[in-house]
Amino acid sequence: MSANSTAADRAAQTLSRPFTLGGLTVPNRIAMAPMTRAFSPDGVPGADVAQYYARRAAGGVGLIITEGTYVGHPSAGDNDRVPRFHGEDALAGWKDVVDEVHRAGGRIMPQLWHVGATRAEGSGPVPDAPTVGPSGIGLDGGPAGRAMTQDDLDAVIAAFAEAAAAAERTGFDGIELHGAHGYLIDQFLWERTNRRTDGYGGDPVARARFAAEIVAACRKAVSAGFPVVLRTSQWKAFHYDARLAGTPQELEAILAPLAEAGVDAFHSSTRRYWVPEFEDSDLNLAGWTKKLTGKATISVGSVGLDKEFDPAMFEGGAARSGVAGIEKLLDRMERDEFDLIAIGRALIADPEWARKVLTGDTGALVPFATEQLQTLH
Ligand SMILES: Cc1cc2nc3c(=O)[nH]c(=O)nc-3n(C[C@H](O)[C@H](O)[C@H](O)COP(=O)(O)O)c2cc1C
Repeated sequence: MSANSTAADRAAQTLSRPFTLGGLTVPNRIAMAPMTRAFSPDGVPGADVAQYYARRAAGGVGLIITEGTYVGHPSAGDNDRVPRFHGEDALAGWKDVVDEVHRAGGRIMPQLWHVGATRAEGSGPVPDAPTVGPSGIGLDGGPAGRAMTQDDLDAVIAAFAEAAAAAERTGFDGIELHGAHGYLIDQFLWERTNRRTDGYGGDPVARARFAAEIVAACRKAVSAGFPVVLRTSQWKAFHYDARLAGTPQELEAILAPLAEAGVDAFHSSTRRYWVPEFEDSDLNLAGWTKKLTGKATISVGSVGLDKEFDPAMFEGGAARSGVAGIEKLLDRMERDEFDLIAIGRALIADPEWARKVLTGDTGALVPFATEQLQTLH
């Protein structure tokens, strides 16, 4: 990179590089982060949802990861405006989403989701279903729902595998499994919520077993080149200081069985991509994950914003969208510390974010404001 190339040139060059993930080639390094929008009445994504994603595809996003969408298990969700990923009506809606995104030149993966013990009893698409999790323990350490039986585990694993197969059948370009932020898969990974004494709890490898079985089942349900991405995080919803792993060794113990089970890429969710994950190294979580597993990684967290993702975001107060700090991002991407960067709120604010950043038109970026979450633009 010549010393006098501008930040805009650098951004264009670095982020325009294609990336191959299994049988999928993503034309640039910009992904849309999965974001729950709850605009799908009765769990069916409609034309407005299809247009919302197609607008980002037309706006240059290389890979769209959809909002979390519930797998076909009665306890999977707690909001009937969150799209389902099962049932003919919902899958027909998703087919329109895929077709619109492809027509706009994009690529798209659904984020497959089971909320586990965070589910409010009596809520969601199947209000009578029990709330279930690894041990009947919520994120705060108190009681929440009931511990899953082996039959429950088998049913959830099968539901993820069915959703994976449905994703490929529907024309999606891959899947992302939601293993982050304190939802079901992450509840198994985390010591606080997983106190099981069968083979699914105990040391990090045992805590990773449920996730590994889901990955393996999904891998088996789709073609060899169809990418399986797994999102993981240290932080949990409203428990931002939570940690799965305090050292690289602990992280490796959790991730190695997952890589082995067939993950093509990890999506390492952090709230600020520039924060080093462990002492004595500048690498962030995606950087460490790539180094420890040898797999491709997606990073994320406050790109183009000057305010991190936190509850205050939902209570008003604007966060500006710009390209603040993008040089630090480019430094990391030029070193191939990680492979793709996911953009969340900045892409809610501005469907054209990718195109503008890739062409140096950054003066025209629309800033993020919390009110934008009220509508689906
Ligand atoms: C409105 C909203 C909804 C979100 N929903 C999800 C979700 O369904 N699944 C998920 O893994 N992360 C979800 N996230 C987290 C984002 O994917 C992303 O990691 C976070 O916003 C940080 O990226 P940003 O700073 O670029 O916004 C959500 C974030 C926002 C703002």
